[in-house]
Amino acid sequence: MTGRSDTVTELLANLERGESLPARWYTDPAIAERELTRIFRQSWLYVGALAHLANPGDYITGYAGGVPVVVVRGEAGLAGFVNVCRHRRHEVMKGRGNARMMMCGYHAWTYDLGGQLRRAPRSEGAPGFRLEDFPLLPIRAETLGPLVFVNLDREAPPVQSVFGEVLDIIARSGIVLDDLEPHSRGEGNSPANWKAMLENYLECYHCAVAHPGFSAAIDVRPDQYRYETHEWFSTQIGPLKQSALTGRGKVPPYDVSGPVGEAQYHFLWPNLTISINPGFPNLSAELWVPDGPVVTRGFSDRFFGRGATEAFIRSMIAFNNQVAAEDDLLTDSVQRGLVGGLPDRGRFLPNAEPLVLDFQRKIIRAMVGED
Ligand SMILES: [Fe+2]
Repeated sequence: MTGRSDTVTELLANLERGESLPARWYTDPAIAERELTRIFRQSWLYVGALAHLANPGDYITGYAGGVPVVVVRGEAGLAGFVNVCRHRRHEVMKGRGNARMMMCGYHAWTYDLGGQLRRAPRSEGAPGFRLEDFPLLPIRAETLGPLVFVNLDREAPPVQSVFGEVLDIIARSGIVLDDLEPHSRGEGNSPANWKAMLENYLECYHCAVAHPGFSAAIDVRPDQYRYETHEWFSTQIGPLKQSALTGRGKVPPYDVSGPVGEAQYHFLWPNLTISINPGFPNLSAELWVPDGPVVTRGFSDRFFGRGATEAFIRSMIAFNNQVAAEDDLLTDSVQRGLVGGLPDRGRFLPNAEPLVLDFQRKIIRAMVGED
């Protein structure tokens, strides 16, 4: 499927020589389709904030590898389901909220919070029809700190065993996870492949060139800015720029005083990033969702903690939006560069972009091989 020369061995060998994935992997619908089954339907995917599931009947919805999903708090705790009615496959729940039962808005088939079908109008006389044969399809739903994930793979290891260590690293930033509260969700989409967007997130080689405001707040010099790879997540740590505190350098675009003394940018395989900036407690959980090969739909769930005033929150959102707008210009241009397929391979600088290499290794291992 990936072409004559694209065995896993050859792709990995090319990567270790500094050659990136072929351009076609960013434009080909067959690759995007394979990513859904090989990556997204076998991984823990972020859906939303645990704080929105505090009370019985609270629910949140989202998508996992193109499949509509709902997570609900029932009497027995959190439960995840494919959010698709067993009747005509209309989506059952919308957005988030609280409900005593989950009723499909098409023909009023009604499921309890455990997913059992309780009512299907006019089904009484239907031969051979039994309500108990048509529950919502169950999926795994688990939490990592303040975040809720789902997995369509019943056999996957628990989310805590995959990503748990990232919570310890976040705690070292000065953020108290239990104090974080969800503030708002920002949404957007870009005309670029999801991998191109994440590869941009995964290096700060471009920061000094493309992000002047960001680089006034965060020390992006190669001897200060650190990269760490872990098995299923990676971490970038950028110290607060000292001149941002003393006022002797370029003025940072928001108030960087506060208990969080460093930036942390985490990537959780395959498509969640968690961004923390220096200042008062702030955390954004950003999801990068492919919609075919050349569109990425994303959202950012913003959380804030103690000491973050409305003015700080406004300036932090503006800061993140500015960086995202600068990044969008870059990745939009990269996508235009990839469409023509020339040059077919890019050339990495492994020392400056170790996390991009690690990401492409994971992509290759997931995509190439036996079905
Ligand atoms: Fe950037």
